[in-house]
Amino acid sequence: MERLQKIISQAGVASRRAAEKIIGEGRVTVDGVVAELGAQADAGTQTICIDGKPLRRPEAHVYFLLNKPKGYISTAKDERGRKTVLDLLPEVKERIYPVGRLDSGTEGLLLLTNDGGLMNGLLHPAREVWKTYLAQVEGRLTRPELQTLKNGVKLEDGVTAPAKVRVLDWDDRKGRTKLEISIHEGKNRQVRRMCEAVDHPVHALKRTEFAGLNLSGVKRGEYRALTAEEVAYLYELANLPAHGAGRKG
Ligand code: URA
Repeated sequence: MERLQKIISQAGVASRRAAEKIIGEGRVTVDGVVAELGAQADAGTQTICIDGKPLRRPEAHVYFLLNKPKGYISTAKDERGRKTVLDLLPEVKERIYPVGRLDSGTEGLLLLTNDGGLMNGLLHPAREVWKTYLAQVEGRLTRPELQTLKNGVKLEDGVTAPAKVRVLDWDDRKGRTKLEISIHEGKNRQVRRMCEAVDHPVHALKRTEFAGLNLSGVKRGEYRALTAEEVAYLYELANLPAHGAGRKG
């Protein structure tokens, strides 16, 4: 249950103050009964009308984990007609957005949701949400280079926060090193720029984890809905009050 003026303003019909005025004028009904100022209602189950016209029911929140292939951009729309990550979820009818970005050339885990509160919470720098990447980089890294990646790299927009970095493999034939890099910041093209800064450009990049979630069971180009437990966990991580059973709060 929420105050009517909040429900009306969230529906985008009027500001909260204007909504109060409309209610005060007796123009709002809840299930056919004229509402008083200060009244509460459940927008998910009750019919709220202004001047007899029903307010649109709020969209239920939806949450998806996508295994993004290379070649898709992480925006909802593209003016130049390029393929976007939304093209990979054609069955989803809600207006979802990616939680952060992956470069077109990067593959891997991307969350998408229509829950703006959770999205902002997870992207807030203070939350320090960890993301893990597999990077195939040119050449072999020296110990000091590895240490620099871990301690912080000087980029044009500041020094990166301490990262976790492990060498996983060395490909002798290609002359490349496979690195696992975990960071909790979200600077633009951060992993690529960190590796470039120590003279080991990235050839391939994949995000394998985001906020403790991984790609297990989700093939490249496929997606799945998050479970209620996963959503509850993300709410905790984003420092938000407990999530209300999948409905807009
Ligand atoms: N770092 C990058 O360089 N690219 C991404 O897509 C994500 C992190």
